Amino acid sequence: MSNFPITRTSSPKAKPSDETLSFGKVLTDHMFLMNYDEGRGWHSPRIEPYGPLSLDPATSVLHYGQAIFDGLKAFRGDDGQIRLFRADRHAERFNRSARIMCMPEVPVDLVRQSFDALVGLEADWVPRKAGTSLYLRPTIIATDVMLGVHPAHSYLYFLILSPVGSYYKEGVKPVRILASDTHVRAVRGGTGEAKTAANYAQSLSGQQDAAAAGYTQVLYLDGVHRKYLDEVGTMNIMVRIGDEVITPPLAGTILDGVTRASTLQLMRDWGLKVSERPITIDEVMAAGRDGTLKEMWGTGTAAVVSPVGTLGYKGEDVLINGGVTGELTQKLYDSIVGIQYGRTNDAHGWTSVV
Ligand code: COI
Repeated sequence: MSNFPITRTSSPKAKPSDETLSFGKVLTDHMFLMNYDEGRGWHSPRIEPYGPLSLDPATSVLHYGQAIFDGLKAFRGDDGQIRLFRADRHAERFNRSARIMCMPEVPVDLVRQSFDALVGLEADWVPRKAGTSLYLRPTIIATDVMLGVHPAHSYLYFLILSPVGSYYKEGVKPVRILASDTHVRAVRGGTGEAKTAANYAQSLSGQQDAAAAGYTQVLYLDGVHRKYLDEVGTMNIMVRIGDEVITPPLAGTILDGVTRASTLQLMRDWGLKVSERPITIDEVMAAGRDGTLKEMWGTGTAAVVSPVGTLGYKGEDVLINGGVTGELTQKLYDSIVGIQYGRTNDAHGWTSVV
């Protein structure tokens, strides 16, 4: 591991009990920082006590949103070892987000070293209770002080860590989702493929409308035809109709989810029929009515797999699998989690020990 300069905190925080962990409310004692300046590249990697950043009010990220992040997890296995899940793939996606947002890439090796160095230092913060983990949030923001609209010349990379429990306080429990004919997440040629701050800001009003109508999340339809499934909330979406599992293709509007890729790989390993193809809301609703819609779930790092119990669209609700978690949904959750905690064979080499 690289020897980054470390300034240790003089006032370590009390660690929360694993029982009380929710998502992202507690941050650890240290953070990793690194600066970028045009002509000089990435420089001054360091670990410092966790604390506020000082930014000039004219800092460009605050105005024009040049900001990217990623999210991955470290798990304490039953054998006591700490494992990161698909760290390289997250680092590569982070760079893809950077390219889309006209920001400088960070060498994957350096991103990986920052993960290992900070998680290694904060190893005691990796919780122990089943279902808990340490969430890593690498982020880059534009730090030019200027009000002109153009790609910045200077950036800050920071990595912060948060011990987390289940993303949804109910755990793996079917949620009610509403296919929206008013809110759109992204269009081709936009930023839908990037993990950028604005995508999440613009998801809030749809989420609010869905909640007001009695649903947990929004199912976004494509922005042009308003009929093809895109994403659900902050997750990729999958449906099982008969014996076929269908998920929207990576065609420029959705995120290349790491859990999406991992669950697709597992289902292909198991010999299931898996299609990455456009699928319309009408096809899904019709399958819901005639009973062939067997299961539906979202995939994402935070929740892993989140079953859909009810799908609403234009005033009609269809109940999926009697509103209980389906067999395949549960098997996917158990398989991914088994690999993450080092309980089951990691045939694809997805985990790396810190
Ligand atoms: C995920 O990991 O599924 C997410 O995208 C949610 C995160 C932004 C909190």
